[in-house]
Amino acid sequence: VENIKIGMLGLGTVGRGVYRIITGNGENIKRKIGAGLEIKKILVRDLNRDRGVELDQQLLTGEINDIMEDPEIKIVIEVMGGIEPTLDFVQQALQNGKSVVTANKDMIAVYGKQLFELAEANRADLLFEASVAGGIPIIRPLKQCLAANRINQVIGIINGTTNYMLTKMTKEGSDFAEVLREAQDKGYAEANPASDIEGYDAARKLAILASIAFNSRVVLDDVYTEGITKITATDISYAGELNYTVKLLGIAKETEEGVEVRVHPTLIPVDHPLAAVNDVFNAIFVSGDAVGDTMFYGRGAGELPTASAVVSDAMDAARDLLRNVPGIISCTCYDEKPVKDMGL
Ligand code: NAP
Ligand code: HSE
Repeated sequence: VENIKIGMLGLGTVGRGVYRIITGNGENIKRKIGAGLEIKKILVRDLNRDRGVELDQQLLTGEINDIMEDPEIKIVIEVMGGIEPTLDFVQQALQNGKSVVTANKDMIAVYGKQLFELAEANRADLLFEASVAGGIPIIRPLKQCLAANRINQVIGIINGTTNYMLTKMTKEGSDFAEVLREAQDKGYAEANPASDIEGYDAARKLAILASIAFNSRVVLDDVYTEGITKITATDISYAGELNYTVKLLGIAKETEEGVEVRVHPTLIPVDHPLAAVNDVFNAIFVSGDAVGDTMFYGRGAGELPTASAVVSDAMDAARDLLRNVPGIISCTCYDEKPVKDMGL
């Protein structure tokens, strides 16, 4: 069987991890899916920048049509982020019948519904496991493994940057600006880190999780959002004296008035399991009527953990192509359930 050809959009933190896994774990991937994955082209802005990986420079392009108009490229991995021009590129890829794997919560949290419909209409997969909680499997478990349940609530620490910052501020009394810089250096933060510290990154992820968990349509604007910019090391120290720790939580519940979604800093008793989720780790509690309580835990950001989810999605897309069934399981069908008015 011939290798399945991939076009990548972006070769930054996550893209580099994807490149490393696909080139480094090639034999393992091939054994698991029955064909190799081969990166044919990578779109970047700067063709000359040092990428920190050994790479054939011929792979890089600044021209999107080298990917969109290449019929050999069957899967597009979008790890460039943002909405413009990314949304347009993803729509073009789907319209050309290419399956898309993305880590982009900004795009899915707002344009998910249109994109799922486009994917379905063009018999293409649209997979986005990496868009929530980095390397932690949570999208597929919610969509598939827990599908039999009526989900009551989803509560979690779903932003690695702010959890890293709060952990350092709690344990070392570190300064806000200094720990934010550390999180950026480690590749955890968004291109614009205001998304992380103001809570919007967590809000986007919560909108995605709530949409799937409650088979509803929750978008970024529905989420009450408060970040950690007003939290100081002194607040954290007072909380500690009262046996609490401060965490930025995403909380989604189905209530009688509709789906309630909110992100805000929360005081958590130090003996609560979420209080022990530190550094870049994320954790998500999901409770279902049949399964009871479940918890998903792992690294919520960073090069290889995030790339783990991206490449696993690409392997799923490749399996679907090999069986000639792309677009059949990736579609998420939403009811239009009411979303509770949070007075925004
Ligand atoms: P990044 O390091 O900033 O990398 C972005 C890449 O996209 C760069 O290679 C950049 O090219 C390229 N790019 C951006 N705009 C472009 C344009 N208009 N045309 C061509 N190329 C363009 O970002 P990242 O941290 O890897 O994040 C990528 C995506 O993954 C985002 O959606 C992010 O939210 C998501 N994500 C990130 C993490 C994480 O831990 N970092 C975790 C989960 C999800 P140049 O290199 O030439 O500038
Ligand atoms: N900036 C995000 C975070 C990346 O810190 O969680 C992972 O989505």
